[in-house]
Amino acid sequence: MKTVIEKITDLLTEEDRKKIQEAGRILKEGGLVAFPTETVYGLGADALNPEASKKIYAAKGRPSDNPLIVHISNMEALEGITSEIPEKAKQMAEQFWPGPLTMIFSKSSQVPLETTGGLETVAVRMPNHPIALALIDAGGGYIAAPSANTSGKPSPTLAEHVALDMDGRIPMILDGGAVGIGIESTIVDFSGEVPMILRPGYITPEMIRQVIGEVRVDPGLAADNPSVHPKAPGMKYKHYAPKADLILVNGAQEKVVKRINELVREAEKSGKRTGVIGTDETCGLYQAGVVKSIGSRKDEDTIARHLYGILREFDELNVDMIYSESFSTPRIGQAIMNRMLKAAGHQVIEV
Ligand code: TXA
Ligand code: MG
Repeated sequence: MKTVIEKITDLLTEEDRKKIQEAGRILKEGGLVAFPTETVYGLGADALNPEASKKIYAAKGRPSDNPLIVHISNMEALEGITSEIPEKAKQMAEQFWPGPLTMIFSKSSQVPLETTGGLETVAVRMPNHPIALALIDAGGGYIAAPSANTSGKPSPTLAEHVALDMDGRIPMILDGGAVGIGIESTIVDFSGEVPMILRPGYITPEMIRQVIGEVRVDPGLAADNPSVHPKAPGMKYKHYAPKADLILVNGAQEKVVKRINELVREAEKSGKRTGVIGTDETCGLYQAGVVKSIGSRKDEDTIARHLYGILREFDELNVDMIYSESFSTPRIGQAIMNRMLKAAGHQVIEV
């Protein structure tokens, strides 16, 4: 299959609107289209068409018990696919939609089990991106979309990343440039008594508490508790992994820099190509290896935005080892470290 990459620069132009209509036609006919959202690129299919959903699993190599998020463009659409909308979920939608928030509801019979990985619940999100919203409308209103990477690889934050993973597997990629946030949406489950965060993201527990009061965090997310399984099926799989062995070093900045310098020297002595993930503040302090800055500690959003891209850059450089600082920054550090720890297979050196 030939994959067409369509650049979308201005939805107000006739030319770009035609491209969206064409992408919508592919979706309505049961095909796949990758598209940008504010979090990461998604791989879209008609969520109400079981055959279309199956194609997503095939293109990504995704286990069939890992459910998809249904993307909508307006609140009325939510009623069609859910059997009940709790009051607190409505308040959350009012505050955070469109935006990087996914909510889990009891599903209506409209949603096929192929889309929900066999579950009676459905995950729903209204993305905050003009191309995504236009595509959802053009494609029939309900677009199932996981991140558009091959299963297990870092999520794509550029159309070029999607092309590397999906070329020849899907008919179209909409290129809307770099995404704004860079890590996937916060997932909150409303199917139980107390709302529960199943995946940390840009919307923090504090932000949620300000709107609805009590919210729990899935105990299965805690790094030091491997015997408890996470509630979101996708969170149990190895994920976000670069090809190289990634090891995080955690502690006071000076000690971290010193230890990473030692580790790089040892690794290079034994013939290993080595990468270092530092920050704008520390990059000049590393003496060897391929050093990349993930952003500034003064601006944690830049760290989230560059995380997956940097892992993919090291993939291309074919390094054997990556040593990284850790980023437990004040606001979204939990979301960043959730991804970093998974990418590192929980290998952390404390200094
Ligand atoms: O930001 C995002 O959410 C991106 C963009 C494309 O919207 N999408 C995304 O989808 O991250 P994906 O498929 O990579 O991750 C979906 C996660 C998985 O961990 C999955 O197990 C969980 O959501 N999930 C989906 N439906 C669920 C359900 N009914 N119950 C529990 N977890 C669910
Ligand atoms: Mg994903």
